[in-house]
Amino acid sequence: MLHSILVQLLARRQLALLTLLAVLAISALPGNSYAGGHTNAPIKKEPIQLDPALRSDVTGTVLVTGANRGIGLQLATNYTERGWTVIATARTPNKADDLNALADAHSNLTVEYLDLLDHEGIDDLAKKLQGVPIDVLLNNAAMLGDPAAQDFGNLDYELMEQVFAVNTVGTMKMAEAFFDHVLISDQKKIVAITSLQASIGELREPLVPFYKLSKTALNMGMMTLAKRVKGKKVIIALISPGAVDTSMMKAALDHAGVKANFLITPQESAEAVINIIDQYDLKMTGTFMSHRGDVIPWYQLKRIYNETTLENSAWHRVGNWLGLRLFDV
Ligand SMILES: NC(=O)c1ccc[n+]([C@@H]2O[C@H](COP(=O)([O-])OP(=O)(O)OC[C@H]3O[C@@H](n4cnc5c(N)ncnc54)[C@H](OP(=O)(O)O)[C@@H]3O)[C@@H](O)[C@H]2O)c1
Repeated sequence: MLHSILVQLLARRQLALLTLLAVLAISALPGNSYAGGHTNAPIKKEPIQLDPALRSDVTGTVLVTGANRGIGLQLATNYTERGWTVIATARTPNKADDLNALADAHSNLTVEYLDLLDHEGIDDLAKKLQGVPIDVLLNNAAMLGDPAAQDFGNLDYELMEQVFAVNTVGTMKMAEAFFDHVLISDQKKIVAITSLQASIGELREPLVPFYKLSKTALNMGMMTLAKRVKGKKVIIALISPGAVDTSMMKAALDHAGVKANFLITPQESAEAVINIIDQYDLKMTGTFMSHRGDVIPWYQLKRIYNETTLENSAWHRVGNWLGLRLFDV
């Protein structure tokens, strides 16, 4: 009896030792996560160069959505002035006065109808532009939705669906409808203008949840797309444009009762965003960037136990599982 218990314990200890060696070997491999769920440090990326003096002189064709006002109008203006061929879209082109004035003054900009809620209309434009390479598909258009209708206890679920349909679904539809145009271009970039509000780790206040969740979902959609099309060398860029002085930002700040002295102008934002798009390459695909060129965290890991306490270590749990006290603390 005593003999068989000793044999069993010995066998378990040998198993434990083998397991320990295997875990040690695996944890020594580069890029693997190891005990306690910590991972090796991520590969350091070169910082994005934002110096306007070093601005790239690359040109191509860009399609900008929501180009009749705000950041979109400035993106369309700056690309036009940089000599790009610009397809600028608006929901109601006949009312897009500033954009039409820009088109009158510049032969390299054309105005097209596009509403993100109108999928047939998106397909029609893609068909109209069949065979036209689009180097940068710049998904800028989005809606905030009435902030008061997004307050918990007073949630307007129809609005929630609409915000999601425009910001998330509409932008995914754009990527799908214009994918072939991007694929035949030289630069092959699909850009989503997203928001710092989409970062779970950066969440500071509980306002405008419909908008936030629509952008977080958009980011996930774009991340999966990035992985899906990397083999085709199509680059998916996620860029937050900063806190910009536009009517969207004004509506959000008014509701929050905040007087902002930190806003940047649409011009500052557009310049920064274009510089980032110029430098965004296939190695960066799917990276969530700020207009300053920083990588925005999706979520910040928080340690839920003290890693110095062996009681809680993965080693200890393995030991417990094997019925052994590998570490006596
Ligand atoms: N402003 C900021 O501080 C800030 C911060 C983070 C992220 N962003 C993002 O930056 C982008 C531009 O924002 P913005 O501040 O310039 O906003 P904005 O001034 O409110 O302009 C929004 C644009 O999107 C268009 N749009 C709205 N619904 C649409 C639909 N269903 N189909 C097509 N176009 C539609 C609008 O067209 P209409 O004129 O016809 O309504 C307008 O051209 C958005 O993606 C926004 O989420 C902005």
